[in-house]
Amino acid sequence: MKDQFPVNESEYTDADFQKVRQIAREQAGIHLPATKKALVYSRVSRRVRELNQSSFQAYLNFVTTAAGQNEMQNLICALTTNVTSFFRERNHFDHLESVVIPQMATKVRAGKRGRLWSAACSTGQEPWSIAMSVMTAFPDAASHDFRILATDINANVIAQATEGTYNAEEIEGIPPARKSQFMEPAGNGDYRFDGPIRRLPAFRVLNLNASWPIQGSFSAIFCRNVVIYFDDATREHLWQRLADKLEPDGFLYVGHSERVSCASQCGLIQVAPTIYRKDQ
Ligand SMILES: C[S@@+](CC[C@H](N)C(=O)[O-])C[C@H]1O[C@@H](n2cnc3c(N)ncnc32)[C@H](O)[C@@H]1O
Repeated sequence: MKDQFPVNESEYTDADFQKVRQIAREQAGIHLPATKKALVYSRVSRRVRELNQSSFQAYLNFVTTAAGQNEMQNLICALTTNVTSFFRERNHFDHLESVVIPQMATKVRAGKRGRLWSAACSTGQEPWSIAMSVMTAFPDAASHDFRILATDINANVIAQATEGTYNAEEIEGIPPARKSQFMEPAGNGDYRFDGPIRRLPAFRVLNLNASWPIQGSFSAIFCRNVVIYFDDATREHLWQRLADKLEPDGFLYVGHSERVSCASQCGLIQVAPTIYRKDQ
């Protein structure tokens, strides 16, 4: 079929690229600069072929019809970048274990709820790292009302994250003692999270730039390496919404190349280069 409907670069017009840009902005708040034209071609042309569409234009017309709504999700998935790793930006996990979780443990043992959020969790390395930090600093967390909400716009990565199985290369960043404590071999050199730790994360598909059906507030939110895909206005609006979802004295962790430009307007105090605390 591939050969029957070849898609070549000459069929990919500037109008097609502009249409993809418009879709990415409207559906996910993702800003695709002009420099991404070739990247968009390589990502989207696979979908055009897999659906046996005759051209980019035909594919883009299809995704905007009612019948194309499922494929619209696949298009958004194709446009997102899911690079992640265990204990990425390690200082956030050190801060979480030494400052946040001990305070949460006191509160949760007194009968209150404890909530953390990994917003844009990709294939799960971030929320599973958070879960290992929680189980290390508060070993009986899974027997209490303690949960880690883990969300992403991409349903495919949420399915992988929920499965919680990783290959040898992916688990290189996990300290060996934690690997043996929290994971079991799953064949072919893979390891899978096992035991009480599995009760901590709750995985959901969620677009950060749409409405959030989320009750309550969080002691800490990880929103890392995702706002780089948004424009300034979208970013600022998101920072404000995340700040509103933090408890007083709760923490926001951002990616190492990111900063919260509107921190003081959002009621956030910067306590380290990529760590913000919600003002009381
Ligand atoms: C580079 S990964 C970052 C993963 C993790 N936070 C980390 O720092 O390792 C970016 C993730 O953001 C997700 N994403 C992009 N736009 C989004 C949106 N509008 N709402 C929710 N997630 C989004 C992508 O699907 C992708 O999994």
